[in-house]
Amino acid sequence: MATHILGISAFYHDSAAALIRDGEIIAAAQEERFTRRKHDPAFPRNAINYCLNEGGINTDELDYVTFYERPLVKFERLLETYLAFAPRGFASFQRAVPLWVNHKLDMPRQIIAGLGGQFRGDLCFTDHHESHAASAFFPSPFEEASILTLDAVGEWGTSSIGVGRGNKISISQEMRFPHSLGMLYSAFTYYTGFKVNSGEYKLMGLAPYGEPRFVDVILEKVASIKEDGSLWLDMSYFNYCQGLTMTSEKFHKLFGGPPRKQEGAITEKDMDLAASVQVVCEHVVLRAARHAHRESGLRNLVMAGGVALNCVANGRLLREGPFENIWIQPAAGDAGGAMGSALLIWYQMLDKVRKINSDDSQRGSLLGPRFSNGDIRLFLDSTGASYEYASDENVLIDRVARLLNEEKVIGWFQGRMEYGPRALGCRSIIGDARSPRMQQKMNLKIKFRESFRPFAPCVLRDFVDTVFEMRPNEDSPYMLLVAPVRDDWRLPLGRDELSKLKDPDLRVRVAVQRSRVPAITHVDYSARVQTVDPDRHGRFYRLMNRFYELTRCPVVVNTSFNIRGEPIVCTPEDAYRCFMATDMDCLILENQILMKDAQPSGVLQDAENYRARYELD
Ligand SMILES: [Fe+2]
Repeated sequence: MATHILGISAFYHDSAAALIRDGEIIAAAQEERFTRRKHDPAFPRNAINYCLNEGGINTDELDYVTFYERPLVKFERLLETYLAFAPRGFASFQRAVPLWVNHKLDMPRQIIAGLGGQFRGDLCFTDHHESHAASAFFPSPFEEASILTLDAVGEWGTSSIGVGRGNKISISQEMRFPHSLGMLYSAFTYYTGFKVNSGEYKLMGLAPYGEPRFVDVILEKVASIKEDGSLWLDMSYFNYCQGLTMTSEKFHKLFGGPPRKQEGAITEKDMDLAASVQVVCEHVVLRAARHAHRESGLRNLVMAGGVALNCVANGRLLREGPFENIWIQPAAGDAGGAMGSALLIWYQMLDKVRKINSDDSQRGSLLGPRFSNGDIRLFLDSTGASYEYASDENVLIDRVARLLNEEKVIGWFQGRMEYGPRALGCRSIIGDARSPRMQQKMNLKIKFRESFRPFAPCVLRDFVDTVFEMRPNEDSPYMLLVAPVRDDWRLPLGRDELSKLKDPDLRVRVAVQRSRVPAITHVDYSARVQTVDPDRHGRFYRLMNRFYELTRCPVVVNTSFNIRGEPIVCTPEDAYRCFMATDMDCLILENQILMKDAQPSGVLQDAENYRARYELD
């Protein structure tokens, strides 16, 4: 009889579920994709149902259900923090405690109730950072590796260092709340007017516009970094222990004014702050990694935790060493804790033999729902949509490659949905990276955002070192590394372009054509690279190959299939709704081709109404 383990993360942000059968990852998904509520923290009822369905089992066939952190220890941290800061912090104390007493402390009962009362197995709780560490090591392609986890906070831990060998992990060092790299980064995210727990990647994208002129003041006054990469924060600059904001008045005074208002104009100061905290973040990550390397002497590193999504820091770590190989869990944030917790039970607690896959065991992170051509046609017929069915894949990919070459923007919906925050070619919007108009078109007419960020490239893995400063055939299948565009792909800038680079409007700066693939080249020539290979990416690889045959360009733009504030689409219905409410030219649902201009006018959606459903992120 097979052993089934269900991992759950919930009640904070990014709830998710993952199902493991005899150690094999069967299914994993975030709850937000089903409820259409971004970062949904609710009990992941839909994600669990999907995982059980995919595994072909019922709740009573689950041997273990495991939760990604220990609620009692977390509650103890909250209480101790409040006591340490009392009587300050009463407002947030008053807000948090009833929620804990009435809901979160009763988690075992809530989980059992959420499973519908048929669960007969064991309920387990694993440590937050151990769950991250397990999600990083066990699916990795390494027999042994150093482990580094970095996030805002779990129970007490804010980062950890350890080692994974065979079927065991051990954590040797932990940094504790309130000293936290994730919290420091989020404090600057808050201060520069972005949303905490979701706007961090915008801050990272803003950094290349700025000068890191605040690094010294941050390191002198706000944070000190020790040789081993541990961090000490002067808490008088922060307010997250005792208040409802991230930063204190003293922080605002130090950096010359109150936090930027959300959606307000971005100033040079904001860009410089972004550049500065990014440099500090990279210092910490590099030092922690060097320390981990000194301690273990191993060649491989695995990483997880929200900070491991900082792909600029990851890119530097890979280029500057000391590790030869790095593997990062694609669901590095708390959603990935669900999978980590389940793997921890299988290997660490049940002591099962670990089979190592030379690619990795994450299966491209394509672990979510899929839909057959039959399902899709049933839905399309019920809405009266107009479509063609291309039974021959060669016909399909030739048609799409030609549409890309004509600068059409294409919704590309294929196979299983991605687990983790990035669309990796299954729920993606794709376009021609060579087009100087593509960045603006996708931002304004498809995503409904006025972004200063370029889009991310997908590149055929065989060409990764042709276009980017990366090693031949280097894998980056999860879009977690930033690398520079190679010199011979860059374009010389004339006087006109150089003056545009000083424009106060960042959209003017990002629109300057810096390379032969301008839609994916940032102002500092960097790009967040996803490599596409035949084993993981199948049809998407074959599409890109056909595009390459037509154009000699091995790169396309890849952005997530959603509008601003919307979770990435999950079902054909979600995809069709998004397609009809935006200026996307074409939608490919498995083998069905839908052209926008062929759709009946009755089903066209009002973009304004569609946009209004989603909170700005
Ligand atoms: Fe975490």
